[in-house]
Amino acid sequence: MAHREQWNSQIGFLLAAVGSAIGLGNIWRFSYMAYNYGGGAFLVPYITALVTAGIPLLILEFAMGHERIGSAPLACRRIRPGWEWLGWWAVIFVMFGIVLYYMVVVAWCLDFMVYSLSLAWGSSPDTFFFKDFLQVSSSPAALGGFRMPILAALAVVWFINWGIVYRGISGGIEIANKIFMPTLFVLTCCLVVWAVNLDGAMVGLRAYVTPDFSKIASPRVWIDAYSQIFFTLSLGFGIMIAYASYLPRKSDITRNAVLTALINSGYSLLAGLGVFSVLGFMAVSQGKELSEVVSQSIGLAFVAYPQAISLMPGGRFFGAVFFFCLFVAGISSSISIIEAFTSAIIDKFGFRRAPLVTMIAVAGMAGSLIFATRAGLLWLDIVDHMLTHYGLVVVGIGECILTAWFFNCNFFREHLNSVSSLKLGSWWVIMIRWFIPFVLGIILLSDIVSEIKEPYGGYSWQAMFFIGWLWVLATVAAAVMVARRKWQERPY
Ligand code: ALA
Repeated sequence: MAHREQWNSQIGFLLAAVGSAIGLGNIWRFSYMAYNYGGGAFLVPYITALVTAGIPLLILEFAMGHERIGSAPLACRRIRPGWEWLGWWAVIFVMFGIVLYYMVVVAWCLDFMVYSLSLAWGSSPDTFFFKDFLQVSSSPAALGGFRMPILAALAVVWFINWGIVYRGISGGIEIANKIFMPTLFVLTCCLVVWAVNLDGAMVGLRAYVTPDFSKIASPRVWIDAYSQIFFTLSLGFGIMIAYASYLPRKSDITRNAVLTALINSGYSLLAGLGVFSVLGFMAVSQGKELSEVVSQSIGLAFVAYPQAISLMPGGRFFGAVFFFCLFVAGISSSISIIEAFTSAIIDKFGFRRAPLVTMIAVAGMAGSLIFATRAGLLWLDIVDHMLTHYGLVVVGIGECILTAWFFNCNFFREHLNSVSSLKLGSWWVIMIRWFIPFVLGIILLSDIVSEIKEPYGGYSWQAMFFIGWLWVLATVAAAVMVARRKWQERPY
């Protein structure tokens, strides 16, 4: 039996889990959602989703990996053999979907870090981002060639990821996160202190903390809040299952899960303070309303921020640090995605890590190319929508059904309580068995209904089908196929 890798320390594991959770989702995605939904209004569904689904599911994923000692497919198989496909589906659509465009956004951050130093966007960051940098084409079908600055940065980003995951759990991922996380916290605190002291910051902060209850009435806000919680806590990615499988038997699982969730959301709220202060500063310095300072929510980090960077004293430095933070947060998450897939393949086929990670990085770089074309932003928007709304949420429901209906969830509770300092009551089992599948099921249904009524984001039916739905179906087919392959003799 081969030896399973392990974390060197509990703190190493916690930092890696936090590193996976804190990513572009906390700064780029969280901020544009909060902005879209009127600032503070978003916090109510966000916190509700965190408490009612995020934390209980994170505990469940940690328990699955730790108790069953395996990556997502192995853990699912060890719970019930016919469910191995679920674990494969998670790691496949994340590896050959989410991480492909995720890397491209990390690459944008690297480019913008350099652009900040010369304020390359000039007087019109909006035109610069969409027309000069991305050169967005008219439709997803019009690929229109590669964007060289993105391609070059993308190669660097994949190379760094390769270099870290190649070195394994304690020698690569753990060491990287021990450097990344403290750096990220210190730099983010500096940026936030700087931002809240800008003129007009209070205007933004007021909007951030004042809930506009009329916005919360829309089901869309709730759907987006739940899918944001999935994205930000890396739930349904198979990552947390794999990470927990590298822990020694005596590990404080429940406490680590709660800490990971709280640190992650605390970081989002902190980053939100910075983002809204900057938006307030922009509104005041341009004499606009807060709701008018950003035209396209997806471009918040790449349009509104550059604008603010040009306006503020010392902006070049602020910009470089801001994009560096995004870059670091992105890398600490992308390595976890690659690891979730790598660990699944090693478990099943017993391949050696080094050549495997090299092949994965090359395949990943090739897969990312489509998002580095002129139609990249459109593809990214469609694939992100489909995989976060249908992939992650369905995996979340599947995990609850598998563990609570086809297995004895109390068994996991007893395991957790025997190793953790925080004891779980039977409420946790009720959440996993009833509440979470029910809420996620409603979300999924209403999502599908709105999808049928009108294609997402104003795209054509063809684009949604050929890019979005086919992508989802292809990953399901691949998962079923891999699940049918023979296992190595004795995986751990
Ligand atoms: N959890 C990661 C993020 O928020 C994927 O970006």
